[in-house]
Amino acid sequence: MEETVNRPITTRNPDPDLTSPQRDQEEESVHRALERYYDAGKPPWDTGVTPPELVALVGGHSALQPGRALELGCGTGTNAIYLARHGWEVTAVDLIDRAVDQAGERAEAAGAAVRLLRGDATRLDELDAPGPFDLFFDLSCYCGIPLHRRDAYAAGLTRRAAPGARLLMFGYGPEPLDNPIPEVTSWAAGVTADELRAGFAGWELLDVTPGTNSVPTFWFTLRRDA
Ligand SMILES: C[S@@+](CC[C@H](N)C(=O)[O-])C[C@H]1O[C@@H](n2cnc3c(N)ncnc32)[C@H](O)[C@@H]1O
Repeated sequence: MEETVNRPITTRNPDPDLTSPQRDQEEESVHRALERYYDAGKPPWDTGVTPPELVALVGGHSALQPGRALELGCGTGTNAIYLARHGWEVTAVDLIDRAVDQAGERAEAAGAAVRLLRGDATRLDELDAPGPFDLFFDLSCYCGIPLHRRDAYAAGLTRRAAPGARLLMFGYGPEPLDNPIPEVTSWAAGVTADELRAGFAGWELLDVTPGTNSVPTFWFTLRRDA
């Protein structure tokens, strides 16, 4: 059978330039697409609700002890503020100025201490986010990152992870029905458990729980080796 145009692309640059300051055309397309979402008002993902998966990790029966947390792709700050309110020392990064501005206003209004950084989750070395971090949270940031930048994302987290650190990640699986921005191939590729196992050396994939969306989504929990 003919493969659909949204077929995930699994190839990677075998020798990625992890530190490249230059954004290429695909990264520019992603940036512009994200900016359009924020410029148009409230993006569809900006629900203002902290997902139960994060609530369970931070406030559930076997809650993690608060430590340092880094949110990748924090948007307007809902979850960074939630973490700060639960005793975490939070740093939060987003690529889009308008999102970071709104996150700052919301954090201030909430009286929550969140360190907000404008920048690229695949270029953490350019930001003041040395860590080490005990928790990383990513709500569909990684799954939208161009494939050739994902190794740089993983390397950046790995360098900043405390022994035993957790990464809780929500991501869209491959083959979503509609890719709103066809030129951004990574948005069709999504993320898979196999990709994370291969891409996050020195981490263990502890859990994969399907999300409740109408298209395939997953909650991934990874733990950095102690
Ligand atoms: C689906 S939104 C989720 C936002 C927020 N976590 C929430 O729950 O509302 C993903 C966010 O990741 C950000 N993002 C995408 N690629 C990024 C990158 N390379 N570096 C930093 N942020 C990025 C987007 O601007 C967007 O705000």
